[in-house]
Amino acid sequence: MKKLIIINGPNLNLLGKRETSIYGNLTFTAFFEQTVKKFPNVKLEHFQSNIEGELIDKIQEIGFDYDGIILNAAAYTHTSVGIGDAVKAITTPVVEVHISNTFSREAFRHQSYISPNAKGVILGFGLQSYELAIQSFLDA
Ligand code: DQA
Repeated sequence: MKKLIIINGPNLNLLGKRETSIYGNLTFTAFFEQTVKKFPNVKLEHFQSNIEGELIDKIQEIGFDYDGIILNAAAYTHTSVGIGDAVKAITTPVVEVHISNTFSREAFRHQSYISPNAKGVILGFGLQSYELAIQSFLDA
Protein backbone atom coordinates (compact mmCIF):
# COMPACT_ATOMS: atom_id res chain seq x y z
CA MET A 1 0.00 0.00 0.00
CA LYS A 2 1.43 3.39 -0.99
CA LYS A 3 2.06 5.81 1.82
CA LEU A 4 1.28 9.39 0.76
CA ILE A 5 0.92 12.63 2.67
CA ILE A 6 -0.78 15.90 1.82
CA ILE A 7 1.14 18.83 3.30
CA ASN A 8 -0.73 22.12 3.34
CA GLY A 9 0.77 25.52 4.08
CA PRO A 10 -0.56 28.77 5.53
CA ASN A 11 -4.24 29.69 5.52
CA LEU A 12 -5.33 26.39 4.02
CA ASN A 13 -6.82 25.55 7.43
CA LEU A 14 -9.44 28.17 6.47
CA LEU A 15 -10.69 26.29 3.41
CA GLY A 16 -14.49 26.47 3.27
CA LYS A 17 -14.62 29.98 4.69
CA ARG A 18 -11.68 31.71 3.02
CA GLU A 19 -12.26 33.52 -0.33
CA THR A 20 -14.84 30.90 -1.31
CA SER A 21 -15.11 32.21 -4.89
CA ILE A 22 -11.49 31.08 -5.39
CA TYR A 23 -11.12 28.15 -2.98
CA GLY A 24 -14.67 26.75 -2.72
CA ASN A 25 -17.03 25.96 0.15
CA LEU A 26 -15.70 22.63 1.32
CA THR A 27 -13.57 22.39 4.46
CA PHE A 28 -10.33 20.46 4.10
CA THR A 29 -11.47 18.02 6.79
CA ALA A 30 -14.61 17.15 4.77
CA PHE A 31 -12.60 16.87 1.57
CA PHE A 32 -9.96 14.70 3.26
CA GLU A 33 -12.59 12.28 4.62
CA GLN A 34 -14.07 11.90 1.10
CA THR A 35 -10.64 11.41 -0.41
CA VAL A 36 -9.58 8.74 2.07
CA LYS A 37 -12.73 6.80 1.10
CA LYS A 38 -12.07 7.35 -2.61
CA PHE A 39 -8.58 5.84 -2.37
CA PRO A 40 -8.97 2.80 -0.11
CA ASN A 41 -5.66 1.37 -1.30
CA VAL A 42 -3.64 4.40 -0.18
CA LYS A 43 -2.38 5.11 3.30
CA LEU A 44 -3.13 8.82 3.19
CA GLU A 45 -2.11 11.35 5.83
CA HIS A 46 -2.52 15.09 6.14
CA PHE A 47 -0.45 17.78 7.83
CA GLN A 48 -1.12 21.54 7.86
CA SER A 49 0.84 24.40 9.36
CA ASN A 50 0.89 28.16 9.10
CA ILE A 51 4.54 28.15 10.16
CA GLU A 52 7.32 27.86 7.58
CA GLY A 53 9.76 25.99 9.86
CA GLU A 54 7.13 23.43 10.84
CA LEU A 55 6.53 22.66 7.16
CA ILE A 56 10.29 22.21 6.65
CA ASP A 57 10.50 19.95 9.74
CA LYS A 58 7.67 17.78 8.38
CA ILE A 59 9.20 17.53 4.90
CA GLN A 60 12.53 16.46 6.47
CA GLU A 61 10.85 14.02 8.88
CA ILE A 62 8.95 12.00 6.28
CA GLY A 63 10.96 12.84 3.16
CA PHE A 64 13.07 9.68 3.13
CA ASP A 65 10.35 7.11 3.92
CA TYR A 66 7.06 7.96 2.22
CA ASP A 67 6.15 7.10 -1.36
CA GLY A 68 5.00 10.60 -2.17
CA ILE A 69 4.29 14.09 -0.90
CA ILE A 70 1.48 16.23 -2.25
CA LEU A 71 2.58 19.73 -1.32
CA ASN A 72 0.49 22.87 -1.38
CA ALA A 73 2.88 25.31 0.27
CA ALA A 74 0.30 28.07 -0.37
CA ALA A 75 1.83 31.57 -0.08
CA TYR A 76 5.24 30.08 0.89
CA THR A 77 5.40 28.61 -2.62
CA HIS A 78 6.22 32.08 -3.87
CA THR A 79 8.62 33.16 -1.12
CA SER A 80 10.32 30.24 0.63
CA VAL A 81 13.84 29.32 -0.42
CA GLY A 82 13.86 27.12 2.72
CA ILE A 83 10.92 24.96 1.63
CA GLY A 84 12.37 24.79 -1.88
CA ASP A 85 15.69 23.56 -0.44
CA ALA A 86 13.89 20.99 1.75
CA VAL A 87 12.12 19.58 -1.32
CA LYS A 88 15.51 19.37 -3.04
CA ALA A 89 17.13 17.66 -0.02
CA ILE A 90 14.75 14.71 0.32
CA THR A 91 14.35 11.53 -1.72
CA THR A 92 10.53 11.20 -1.59
CA PRO A 93 9.03 12.65 -4.79
CA VAL A 94 6.93 15.78 -4.38
CA VAL A 95 3.97 16.80 -6.52
CA GLU A 96 3.24 20.51 -6.15
CA VAL A 97 -0.45 21.31 -6.01
CA HIS A 98 -2.53 24.48 -6.08
CA ILE A 99 -6.28 24.79 -5.85
CA SER A 100 -6.41 27.90 -8.02
CA ASN A 101 -4.70 28.55 -11.33
CA THR A 102 -1.89 30.68 -9.95
CA PHE A 103 -0.91 31.76 -13.48
CA SER A 104 -4.26 33.47 -14.00
CA ARG A 105 -3.74 35.50 -10.80
CA GLU A 106 -1.30 38.19 -9.62
CA ALA A 107 2.24 38.12 -11.06
CA PHE A 108 3.81 37.32 -7.65
CA ARG A 109 1.96 33.98 -7.72
CA HIS A 110 3.68 32.98 -10.99
CA GLN A 111 6.97 32.35 -9.18
CA SER A 112 7.47 29.00 -7.37
CA TYR A 113 10.44 27.86 -5.30
CA ILE A 114 8.96 24.34 -5.29
CA SER A 115 8.48 23.66 -9.02
CA PRO A 116 12.16 23.25 -10.03
CA ASN A 117 12.50 20.25 -7.72
CA ALA A 118 8.98 18.85 -7.96
CA LYS A 119 8.15 15.70 -9.87
CA GLY A 120 5.26 17.63 -11.40
CA VAL A 121 2.81 20.43 -10.80
CA ILE A 122 -1.00 20.28 -10.81
CA LEU A 123 -2.97 23.49 -10.44
CA GLY A 124 -6.26 25.14 -11.18
CA PHE A 125 -8.61 22.17 -10.71
CA GLY A 126 -9.97 23.19 -7.33
CA LEU A 127 -9.69 20.52 -4.65
CA GLN A 128 -9.59 17.96 -7.46
CA SER A 129 -5.95 19.04 -7.94
CA TYR A 130 -5.13 16.96 -4.82
CA GLU A 131 -6.91 13.89 -6.21
CA LEU A 132 -5.11 14.16 -9.53
CA ALA A 133 -1.82 14.32 -7.63
CA ILE A 134 -2.70 11.18 -5.62
CA GLN A 135 -3.66 9.41 -8.84
CA SER A 136 -0.31 10.36 -10.40
CA PHE A 137 1.50 8.40 -7.67
CA LEU A 138 -0.74 5.36 -8.20
CA ASP A 139 -0.16 5.30 -11.95
CA ALA A 140 3.61 5.71 -11.49
C1 DQA B 1 -2.68 28.47 -3.37
C2 DQA B 1 -2.25 29.64 -4.27
C3 DQA B 1 -1.32 30.57 -3.51
O1 DQA B 1 -0.91 31.64 -4.35
C4 DQA B 1 -2.02 31.14 -2.30
O2 DQA B 1 -1.14 31.95 -1.56
C5 DQA B 1 -2.67 30.11 -1.45
C6 DQA B 1 -3.30 28.96 -2.08
C7 DQA B 1 -3.73 27.57 -4.07
O3 DQA B 1 -3.88 26.44 -3.62
O4 DQA B 1 -4.38 27.99 -5.03
O5 DQA B 1 -2.76 30.27 -0.23
O6 DQA B 1 -1.54 27.68 -3.10
